[in-house]
Amino acid sequence: MFSALPDQPEDKILKLMAMYRDDAREQKIDLGVGVYKDASGHTPIMRAVKAAEKTLWETETTKTYVALAGAPDFNDAMVAMVLGGAVPRGDVASVGTPGGTGAVRQGFDLVKLGNASATVWYSTPTWGNHISILKHMGVAHKPYRYFDAESGEVDFAGMIADLDTALPGDVILLHGCCHNPTGANLTQAQWRQVVDILNERALIPMIDIAYQGFGDGLEEDAYGVRLVAENCPETIIAASCSKNFGVYRERTGALMAVSRGGAETARAQKTLAYLNRQNYSFPPDHGARLVTMILTDEALKAEWMAELEEVRTGMLALREQLAGELKRLTNSDRFDFIARHRGMFSMLGLTAAQMDELRETHGIYGVSDSRINIAGLNSETVPLLAKAVAEVVGG
Ligand code: LMR
Repeated sequence: MFSALPDQPEDKILKLMAMYRDDAREQKIDLGVGVYKDASGHTPIMRAVKAAEKTLWETETTKTYVALAGAPDFNDAMVAMVLGGAVPRGDVASVGTPGGTGAVRQGFDLVKLGNASATVWYSTPTWGNHISILKHMGVAHKPYRYFDAESGEVDFAGMIADLDTALPGDVILLHGCCHNPTGANLTQAQWRQVVDILNERALIPMIDIAYQGFGDGLEEDAYGVRLVAENCPETIIAASCSKNFGVYRERTGALMAVSRGGAETARAQKTLAYLNRQNYSFPPDHGARLVTMILTDEALKAEWMAELEEVRTGMLALREQLAGELKRLTNSDRFDFIARHRGMFSMLGLTAAQMDELRETHGIYGVSDSRINIAGLNSETVPLLAKAVAEVVGG
């Protein structure tokens, strides 16, 4: 049987991780996978996480199962962080999931159960695994225009024109903030227009929010998701704690289904718990517990928010430096968008061949679609990247 298994396509981000690891050169820069790194290239355990972990080690007395939907206080804390009171808690069905990817996968499962003929529309480009999971699950999917590679900005006219062709009941997959892979985000006015179209055309929003706090701030980054949840009859939300709490390997996330309370929300809650049972039974608890401890303890929360803010402003400073260096070296404003982008990523608008050249000649690893992880840089490597990019685009 195994010999009959179809060959699976490689995930380009994971492939790049392996290539970087195998590169013996001393001077190499990893701008691939979306993992936060400090100036020394280390992915730290956040201070509040370490402190919560210590307390948990001292106080946890059992590892027995918690609940199929995940711990109730975790779900409450996540709903509060993501939705901030935009809708009553009773309007939100929520379960813990293994990371944001688990929530995305489970969200598509929910779509399949609720409306098997719905098409899921995703931005061009989007996180490659969105499309890969949709394909794997046999869910119909179509792209909508999103990014203008020339200007590095959102192609909003194209996006609206494409959403206008979606059918009632179709699902529109949106990035809550810090768009992956482009770094180009909707303005607040654009979010309001998107809400109007969703409602006019009876479309169901599904929002993947994996980088809350990495863009403009913890509250600011939730503007879109809160607006949508408040104004659309039904909203699906996949939230990740991997990046903003730095708990990548703990697999911590939540899937929420927002409706208008009552029987509808109760049915959604029952379905989400059912889906957990079918897919992996109880969601992981360790990371979820740490996140809950942090979000519900004033001192720990303040410590976490301070560090998250350091991470965010550090990335902004790197963006400014890189945009400035590139302006100087290319003598053009072509790369000014890097400073306007938000989150961990920017799409540089380079060809796959130019990205190959960056890797082969300069030891700089970015994804072939020209996405770079800003957090993979530090103030000393920014000039190296800028010089290499200027050389690659110039020659
Ligand atoms: C990324 O986009 O690099 C991250 O979300 C990590 C992943 O799993 O791809």
